[in-house]
This record gives sequence, structure tokens and C-alpha cells, in this order.
Amino acid sequence: MQLTNSISEYGLVSKLFHWLTFVALLIQIPMGFYLVDLDYSDYRIFIEDIHVTLGLSIFYLVLFRLLYKFINPTPALPPAIFSGQKIIAKLNHFALYITLLSVTISGTLKKLFNGESLNFLFKIKLKSDFDKADFFYDIHIYSNYTLIALISLHVFAVIIHRVLFKENILKRIT
Ligand code: HEM
Ligand code: HEM
Repeated sequence: MQLTNSISEYGLVSKLFHWLTFVALLIQIPMGFYLVDLDYSDYRIFIEDIHVTLGLSIFYLVLFRLLYKFINPTPALPPAIFSGQKIIAKLNHFALYITLLSVTISGTLKKLFNGESLNFLFKIKLKSDFDKADFFYDIHIYSNYTLIALISLHVFAVIIHRVLFKENILKRIT
């Protein structure tokens, strides 16, 4: 298997980025919903610390992924796919990247405007502003639901290709 992408195939690096993000989100999304239902305790602080560290790791992972995308070709979709489908696939991928950035950045800003400092690669602290913290937490929640909808659409497209068009597009990324 080739390491980098070609114009027709995803390479190992892109595949690793894709499935690493998938596994991280598989843990992170349920952990977020679990976290909000916990009463204030040492255990909640422990879970929140894991959520923040994993969330910031996902943020850097997405940044690396986008950087890598700029210096590497994105494989073209199979020629059998009509142009409307290609536009939908590209829009879905673009929206997934934007939503991943908005989930991670809003979570970070919520914590920072709460007056807490974040330490990941470098330390940041902002002056507390609870209205802004609430605003970014709303963005965090809406971005999460958008992300869940986009992932569902993304997986649904793979199933539709398999069932209706008898095409296994999953093998492009595995
Ligand atoms: C957490 C969930 C997921 C996210 C955020 C995600 C995100 C993405 C993104 C952004 C791309 C475009 C890569 C690029 O060219 O830049 C992509 C490609 C792809 N993903 Fe996912 N994905 C997820 C889960 C899945 C799952 C569960 C499947 C399979 C059922 C899947 C199947 C694919 C396939 C087949 C492609 C390649 C599409 C093509 O042929 O161009 N993904 N994914
Ligand atoms: C892709 C990354 C992330 C995902 C998928 C995610 C997901 C979630 C979800 C689903 C919730 C529950 C929302 C609700 O229904 O109320 C949540 C809460 C929370 N998230 Fe995230 N999150 C991510 C990244 C981050 C980051 C980077 C931070 C901070 C640096 C963060 C901080 C928080 C906090 C503090 C809460 C709980 C707030 C509270 O109850 O006071 N999240 N997250």
C-alpha cells in the first residue's frame, strides 16, 4: 500500500488520519453527553479533563489532516458517480471539516471564557466573561448535533452506494 495519496487512491497516512478521527469521536461524543449529566465531583472533573484533552487532540488532528490535504492530492471520486453525487460528497466532506473545527474551538472558548486556563502544547488564559462562555457552549451543542447529522449522512451514503449502486466505496478508505 502506498504511503501518500495518488489522484486515484487514498494512501496509508490519509487512511490512518480518517480512522483515528473516527475512533476518537466514537469515544468523545458519548463522553460529552455522559459528562453533562454528572453532578459536580472529583469524578466529574476527571471525566471533563479527559474530554478536554481528547477534544484538543482532535483539534490538532484535524489541523494536521487539513495541512496534509493541501500538500497531497485528494483522490478523484469514481467516474461512475454522476456530478450531483460528487458535489454532495464534496460538500459533506467540507462540512465535516468545518464542523469538527467549530465543535473543538467552541468547546475551547467555553472553557477559556469561564476563566479557566488550558494547557495543551502551550498555555492559554482569557479574562472571564460568562455570557460569552454560555454563547460558545450553545455553539458547542449545536455543532455536536450538526456533526452527528453529517456523520450519519456520510455513513448513509456508503450504504446507499453498496445497496443501490453495488459499489463498495468503503474499500477506498480501508
Ligand atoms: C467519525 C466519523 C467520520 C468522519 C468525521 C469522517 C470524515 C471523512 C472525511 C472528512 C472524508 C474526506 C477525506 C478527504 O478526502 O479529505 C472521508 C472520506 C471517507 N469516509 Fe469518512 N468519516 C467518518 C466515518 C466514516 C465511516 C464510519 C465510514 C464507513 C462506513 C466512512 C467512509 C468513508 C469513505 C468510503 C471515504 C472516502 C470517500 C471517497 O471515496 O472519496 N467514514 N470521511
Ligand atoms: C470533537 C470534539 C468534541 C466533541 C465531539 C464534544 C462533544 C461534547 C458533547 C456531546 C457535549 C454535551 C453537550 C450537551 O448536550 O450539553 C460536550 C460537553 C462539553 N464539552 Fe465537548 N466536545 C468536543 C471537544 C471539546 C473541547 C475541545 C472542549 C474544551 C477544551 C470541550 C469542553 C466541553 C465541556 C466543558 C462540556 C460540558 C459543559 C458543562 O456541562 O458545563 N469539548 N462536548
